[in-house]
Amino acid sequence: MPTAVGDIFCAKLSVSSAGSCPDKSRIGRFLSGWVMLSGLIFLILPIIFNHMGFNEEIARRRTFGIISHPDAGKTTLTEKLLLFGGAIKQAGAVKSSKIDRHAISDFMEIEKQRGISVATSVMGFNYQGIKINLLDTPGHQDFAEDTYRTLTAVDSAVIVVDSVKGVETQTEKLMEVCRMRKTPVMAFINKLDRQGQDPFDLLDEIEKKLNIAVTPMSWPIGMGKSFKGVYDLFQRKLLLFQPGKTKLSDEVLQIDDLAHSALEQEIGDSAAATLREEVALITGVYPEFSEEDYMNGKVAPVFFGSAVNNFGVRELLDCFIRIAPRPQPRNTEVRQVKPTELDYSGFVFKIHANMDPKHRNRIAFVRVCSGRFQRGVNYHHVRLDKKLRFSNATAFMAQSKEIIEEAFPGDIIGLYDTGNLKIGDTITEGEKGSYQGIPSFSPEIFKEVVNTDAMKTKQLEKGLRQLMDEGVAQLFTYELGSRKVVGTVGQLQFEVIQHRLQHEYGASCRFHPVGLYKACWIGGDDPKKIKEFMKSKHRHIAKDKDGKWVFMAETKAWLQMVQENFPGVQFYMTSEL
Ligand code: G4P
Repeated sequence: MPTAVGDIFCAKLSVSSAGSCPDKSRIGRFLSGWVMLSGLIFLILPIIFNHMGFNEEIARRRTFGIISHPDAGKTTLTEKLLLFGGAIKQAGAVKSSKIDRHAISDFMEIEKQRGISVATSVMGFNYQGIKINLLDTPGHQDFAEDTYRTLTAVDSAVIVVDSVKGVETQTEKLMEVCRMRKTPVMAFINKLDRQGQDPFDLLDEIEKKLNIAVTPMSWPIGMGKSFKGVYDLFQRKLLLFQPGKTKLSDEVLQIDDLAHSALEQEIGDSAAATLREEVALITGVYPEFSEEDYMNGKVAPVFFGSAVNNFGVRELLDCFIRIAPRPQPRNTEVRQVKPTELDYSGFVFKIHANMDPKHRNRIAFVRVCSGRFQRGVNYHHVRLDKKLRFSNATAFMAQSKEIIEEAFPGDIIGLYDTGNLKIGDTITEGEKGSYQGIPSFSPEIFKEVVNTDAMKTKQLEKGLRQLMDEGVAQLFTYELGSRKVVGTVGQLQFEVIQHRLQHEYGASCRFHPVGLYKACWIGGDDPKKIKEFMKSKHRHIAKDKDGKWVFMAETKAWLQMVQENFPGVQFYMTSEL
């Protein structure tokens, strides 16, 4: 009876030729080798194709955030980008998350829309084969910390500047964060349909206030009532402005040479002459666009347009998909992790809690940094050193969330959580290093929490802990007497905390103002000197939510004096020493 492939072959041969097998063992070896090889190919090919597919998926992702001072047009631009991406069908679909007045009623209005705002805080859409993940950032300064954290999850940013108001304070602060992280930025100067500042002055202002070199990628022709359109310096196209036009069309004119008489026909003699003059000036003054400088955060390409009129948005998007960075490597405390590494890793940068108060569910927003995230797989929670399985991970598309089977580096996924996750947590396939770069900054306003319902102490503690995990504010617990002090960037958070403690946890509290200047994280090389300092200032020492030591400085002058008296101790304004 034939037992191996060679035997079968010989058996067949012997049936047909009725002769003896010429070299049974050689053919057998050849055939079994061939079978093994083809088996190997069958096994390896899918792995190779899978890997190629994996790398392609990473290469086609662009994850970015739009930042601006409130009212510059961030929501409008976001909406137009989604319209171009075909992710929404009509304007007005994106809910603004802005808070106009410093009032609790605005927050509650947003609270009501939480279901929507969760979906709209991350918007995924496809444009020309590129998967774009757009992260919304609150413009309101009281939520600045939320924006800082969101910026840790992006690979680039688009800054919206109002052409009438120019660069405003909040934009300066956000740009500071981009610079710290060397995040590449582009600028979109908006509202050209209004009589704004001179475009050269606006570029000067961006250079000075945002401390970054600029290269104009398009140039406006007139402004306000005389606004005729822009010349796209990047693609050498003329875009003519029609006010109130909401259609997304491609009506552009290729004008490679500005000397061409077609320019006069389109925009008139005087505007054509001015455009030629100004473009000649730009070419002389500003450096040619360098992709390398942009990628290193040294230069910002600048576009002009009017978001509400759909004007200049497509040009921004077209350039964006060409030059914006793909998912970038990120550092853990141990090493740099490349997105193309096969083992999954990611970190939590935002938490939305109690979306449905009846179910106490929280959703943690995770940036995938490396490998392929797969639903239902056991992953390693680095801080807790334990395995967790996420069976209903969610992806965010423009207006909805959907359960996903897998996600790739650059993607933002939502993980439902019952209290295991907090901002900054790293989840990996087994590796122990935590991602760095989600710092807390010293708050500006401090208030002591006073429990006003002794029967609900536990609820208050739980509520405070969970709200701090979400990053709503920072909690400092004094070593002496366990006094709890909440620190925030703005007044609004205190109202938000009080409201949520009451409605979500059934706890009630009052906030008692305390005179504090800054919370300074303590560091230094000499443990003896630190111990000495802590002993001497023990009444002013507290722990932050992660158990790190913090010096609660009452005034600026006092902090300076303490710094002089304890030269061996370092005082930091951010938790990331
Ligand atoms: P934000 O998210 O940065 O806070 O700004 P948002 O997009 O909400 O825009 C702020 C205001 O500026 C809105 O007007 C919006 O319509 C307007 N706007 C946006 N882009 C342009 C533009 O290109 N030109 C002009 N002229 N206005 C623009 P609003 O009156 O506050 O709200 P709405 O009633 O128009 O929605």
